[in-house]
Amino acid sequence: MIGIIGGSGLYHLEGAGTVKEVSISTPFGEPSSSILILEVEGKEVAFLSRHGKGHIYPPHLVPYRANIWALKELGVSRILSVSAVGGIKESLSPGDYVVISDFIDLTKGRESTFYEGIRSRKVDGDDLVSRLLREGKVVHIDVSEAYCPQMRGVLCAVLERLKLSFHSQGVYACTEGPRFETPSEIRAIKILGGDVVGMTGYPEVVLSRELSMCYASICVVTNPAAGVSKHRLTSQEVIELMKRKEEELKKVIAEFVKS
Ligand code: HPA
Repeated sequence: MIGIIGGSGLYHLEGAGTVKEVSISTPFGEPSSSILILEVEGKEVAFLSRHGKGHIYPPHLVPYRANIWALKELGVSRILSVSAVGGIKESLSPGDYVVISDFIDLTKGRESTFYEGIRSRKVDGDDLVSRLLREGKVVHIDVSEAYCPQMRGVLCAVLERLKLSFHSQGVYACTEGPRFETPSEIRAIKILGGDVVGMTGYPEVVLSRELSMCYASICVVTNPAAGVSKHRLTSQEVIELMKRKEEELKKVIAEFVKS
């Protein structure tokens, strides 16, 4: 099953039939919200709102581990993440889509692994992950290709088919938030190789990889990052642009699920 994690502005996929709503509790706490099992293009899809109902979880407090664990438990094998980002690279304009190809982690102290060694967890299950967690194993995953190349290819083909303006690769710099960045921070991120900046793409991607799930991230550029244009940033402009893109995004998701 495909899991969709909707970010700011995408709290539900209205129009898709709801098959059921599932509340799951995990060894890592409660997810941001209950998970909706929706019917999209004749297939069941699990939808999770990253910030929860009423946008109650700011980026630094999103229960990332519980979210990914819950999706895994429901049988999700591929996660499509949808997020808003600020554009750093000159060629990016508000409204463009970016299919993320790599990340830079600039967060501070988020719980970003399931494998905590000595802090072992009591989890049921005879699968490899449960065993590793119970035994308190230390695990180092490879993230040379953190974003699933197959899912990225499908996303690019869908965006091409729908004739939307998109970039087939881009480096996502994840900041801690919840504040936006300073112009100097954005200049530094640019030197480091960041193309877009957001606050939620990490640790979702690595947690998914730790549970052997494929993960892809489609981002909407909602604003030029701080200092890239002269005006000051507001979260209102991020939400408004995402609202304007909602219908388009639903089409992208439907086509993606169909492919
Ligand atoms: N910075 C961080 N996160 C964001 C931005 C930004 O400029 N725009 C949308 N999410």
